[in-house]
Amino acid sequence: MERKLYLTGASGLLGRAVRTKFAEEGWTVYGTALNRISPVLHRVDLNDNIAVEKSLSSFKPNYIIHCAAERFPDRVQADPNKAEQLNVGATKNLVELADKLSVPVLYISTDYVFNGKSPPFKVNDIPSPVNLYGELKLRGEEATLETSSRNAVLRIPVLYGPVEKLSESAVTVLLENLLNASQPQEVSNYEKRRPSHVNDIAEICFQMASKTLQGSNIQGIYHWCGKEKFTKYEMVLKMAGVFELPHSHITAAADPPQGTTTRPYDTTLDTSRLDALHIGQHTSFADGIHSALKGWIK
Ligand SMILES: NC(=O)c1ccc[n+]([C@@H]2O[C@H](COP(=O)([O-])OP(=O)(O)OC[C@H]3O[C@@H](n4cnc5c(N)ncnc54)[C@H](OP(=O)(O)O)[C@@H]3O)[C@@H](O)[C@H]2O)c1
Repeated sequence: MERKLYLTGASGLLGRAVRTKFAEEGWTVYGTALNRISPVLHRVDLNDNIAVEKSLSSFKPNYIIHCAAERFPDRVQADPNKAEQLNVGATKNLVELADKLSVPVLYISTDYVFNGKSPPFKVNDIPSPVNLYGELKLRGEEATLETSSRNAVLRIPVLYGPVEKLSESAVTVLLENLLNASQPQEVSNYEKRRPSHVNDIAEICFQMASKTLQGSNIQGIYHWCGKEKFTKYEMVLKMAGVFELPHSHITAAADPPQGTTTRPYDTTLDTSRLDALHIGQHTSFADGIHSALKGWIK
């Protein structure tokens, strides 16, 4: 059977890694993007139902991974209607079209559906998002799971990997603090995160898709996160060690960041449902950050 993946958000931080992984494994990938079109990507505005329907019915995928979203919490807060249209409205449309074609959808979600107060969070724990981004992603999950029992949701933590600009990832942007050694820098030592390399998530998506096509029941909610827990300050110290960079200009801010969108404290996810399926891949933070950022160090 030909393996055909329809991938939204294929120009994004995660989508690029997912597209590469599936293409390397011999899948035919129809990657969609909005602004960052390239010879391997197709322009499909997910808010344009007719364009989505046309591209799906002509490509005839046997699996869909939905990565596209507005995923910067501050941008969601700044334009809630636009974010709702993409994160909820376009998701509903996509999963309804997929259901008509009997194609399973893997919806990429976030640890931000939880409030961060009682980790580790299990797949059946009740979500309670503390910001609008988390709320909208949760509504996207609900639409995905209510529309078809074929579908799955993969909740993931903060991501890093090869970036087009340092600000593309909440992890890689910290290198800017480190490199700006002439200025004293305060970095949050408060919220705890378990960053994942995008290649690890791409591998997990690949394993979930492969098992689905082999007939396994990969349905409902799954969790993944990195094994190592850091505050942003600890990530900066780790980067300083990996690249042998000075860090005496960096100080730890112990209190929650003020004046920004509220974020959950510790969103550690319980990965046992994927562990039981022997699905997973952990790149160590030191190795992952070295490969992601070595090109940015002069
Ligand atoms: N990044 C993280 O740390 C993180 C953490 C947890 C969960 N997630 C989830 O992981 C998924 C992937 O995130 P990411 O970091 O890869 O996102 P990203 O880098 O911001 O990429 C977003 C993607 O969505 C596309 N897009 C935006 N509006 C669109 C529209 N109207 N029609 C079609 N495509 C549109 C963008 O296309 P163009 O750029 O070409 O316009 C881009 O490919 C998201 O669902 C996110 O919620 C991310």
